[in-house]
Amino acid sequence: PKQPLVLGIESSCDETGVGIVRGTTLLTNTVSSSMDEHVRFGGVIPEIASRAHLDAFVPTLQESLHEAGVTLDDIDAIAVTSGPGLAGALMVGVCAAKALAVATGKPLYAINHLVAHVGVGLLDSGAASERASDAVAAAGLGAGKLPENLGALLVSGGHTEILRIRSITDDVELLGSTIDDAAGEAYDKVARILGLGYPGGPAIDKLARQGNPKSIRFPRGLTQPKYMGTAEEKGPHRYDWSFSGLKTAVARCVEQFEARGEEVPVADIAAAFQEAVVDVISSKAVLACKEHGITDVLLGGGVAANSRLRELTGQRCTSAGIKLHVPPLDLCTDNGAMVAALGAQLIMAGIAPSGVSFAPDSSMP
Ligand code: KG4
Ligand code: ZN
Repeated sequence: PKQPLVLGIESSCDETGVGIVRGTTLLTNTVSSSMDEHVRFGGVIPEIASRAHLDAFVPTLQESLHEAGVTLDDIDAIAVTSGPGLAGALMVGVCAAKALAVATGKPLYAINHLVAHVGVGLLDSGAASERASDAVAAAGLGAGKLPENLGALLVSGGHTEILRIRSITDDVELLGSTIDDAAGEAYDKVARILGLGYPGGPAIDKLARQGNPKSIRFPRGLTQPKYMGTAEEKGPHRYDWSFSGLKTAVARCVEQFEARGEEVPVADIAAAFQEAVVDVISSKAVLACKEHGITDVLLGGGVAANSRLRELTGQRCTSAGIKLHVPPLDLCTDNGAMVAALGAQLIMAGIAPSGVSFAPDSSMP
């Protein structure tokens, strides 16, 4: 069909997501998160996440179908995240999707989670559907057609990557990524050092507003010439990030205040840490875009919620003549609608389904 009705399933981390799209129109985006169960452990516990997916899947599916006003019979195809992510968590969604596909005889598409974060940008912006709530209306790129020179900056608890997208269905190139911790992971680890709880991103974002980002200068990883290279000769990590040194620098800084018997200036440290992260993410992303002729860049992942990241990346993109697209937050974080959106693109591009014998791949590139 020209506008296939696609059911998308996401279970790569702690969110059980089921979304339904018709072509590029978003119908529903239903998400159940097990984050509350991980909070006391200070991180996502894979076993708990898998069990939570098992509990949440059927109710989330039923709610999504109900909200969209469709039945499984109406669905043209099923799409499911097959990687990357937590192996046990992926397995729950993949098993469920295969069972549905076999039971209904509908085609099944295995979806790369990272590419789906970009695919969500293809959903129509504005009031795409009477059924879509306000919160899930606008994805940002609109019109179902990607800009020709598109990049994507994905920043979450699991990934920090700058991608060039020539074709969403078969030509996505990784320009740069973190060589150690993801940015969200760095936020979470630093929040733990500062005693701010988990997840740390929102807590640091909020506290940083009361601190002075210039009070302390934290290191910007992989920015020395040996990594960046020169204008003529690019270094080996020109577009890559590293956040583990920054995390260590924050820990040292806290230790020094404590050793001197001084009160730790938590808000200042949070602000200075955030400035270091956001500075290096936005500067390297914009550099990669400029040097690859990218004119439009889509921001995605949970850290896209960060107020300073949005602000500074927006400013630097504007100065460089690049347009920054930021989907609404519930389409930036993990969800099933992005999986359905990419599935619909694959179908509309005439790509064959994946069958039911693929395995989840936790380290899918
Ligand atoms: O995309 P996401 O929901 O899950 C995956 O990691 O795939 O991202 C979660 C991450 C966490 O590390 C969380 O601390 C971070 O996003 N985060 C933030 C903010 N909100 C969430 N980081 C910085 N500032 C925020 N406002
Ligand atoms: Zn994600």
